[in-house]
Amino acid sequence: MQITVHFSPNHVDELELRDKVVVVIDVLRASTTITYAMRSGAREIIPVATVAAAMKIVGNLHSTSTVLCGERGGKRIEGFKLGNSPFEYTEEAVRGKALILTTTNGAVALTKSKHARVCYVSSFVNLTATVEALAAIPNIDSENLIILTSGREDEFSLEDATCAGLLITRLMTRFGTMRLSDSARAALSVYHQYGGDIYRTLVESDHGRNLTELGFDEDIRAASQVDSVPLVPVLEQTAIKKRLVFSDQLRAELLERGILADDGMVARVAKVA
Ligand code: MLT
Repeated sequence: MQITVHFSPNHVDELELRDKVVVVIDVLRASTTITYAMRSGAREIIPVATVAAAMKIVGNLHSTSTVLCGERGGKRIEGFKLGNSPFEYTEEAVRGKALILTTTNGAVALTKSKHARVCYVSSFVNLTATVEALAAIPNIDSENLIILTSGREDEFSLEDATCAGLLITRLMTRFGTMRLSDSARAALSVYHQYGGDIYRTLVESDHGRNLTELGFDEDIRAASQVDSVPLVPVLEQTAIKKRLVFSDQLRAELLERGILADDGMVARVAKVA
């Protein structure tokens, strides 16, 4: 496997991602929030890059089961039902609903990935599940994996690079030697430097400091919990409808709550070491 990392969606054109295997990372907070929302039974999540596009889509859908969600500057957008805190995405708020989600960086990375052959949404909370989901792709060994980190307003972000580095470390353990681009090697170094205390790295990052000022420390703590939600949201073209589940316990919980059966989405079970 060959791995390349792009540290901001603005460093890559969507055509470069066409037919590729892509992992999108936005630790603070879009990837973490999307994973929580899928665990809570959201029917689908449609990431959109702008507030205007979100309003337009919701206007066209005319559905009571559609929810406008997202943030600008970390805060819920005026008139939107939900912001971008994972804790807002409870079963009561999102189960069976289509979420139109616009966020400053994460949603942009996802819209760029709409032509990917496979696109997984990843963060610390579903790190090992992401490795397992990648391992399930036929002939993944011969693929060129692109990790697209969302960054922060066109810039590099420490938390996403640290997560990309941990993902690469786990992939190397799983698959052995790989061909790493300079950017992938840089992500590995960031992880070796900052991966020792993930919560601290997140809290001291630029975006972490901003979220702390806004009162979202619990979101940072949740985002730092490695493998706490062993489920991988899958973007297919313009929407995330599918969740791959990588723990028997979570699968049983979701089945009991009717989340896997109700939406008819495929769940794949694998043992996580
Ligand atoms: C983003 O997509 O830029 C982030 O998720 C921002 C945030 O923390 O809400």
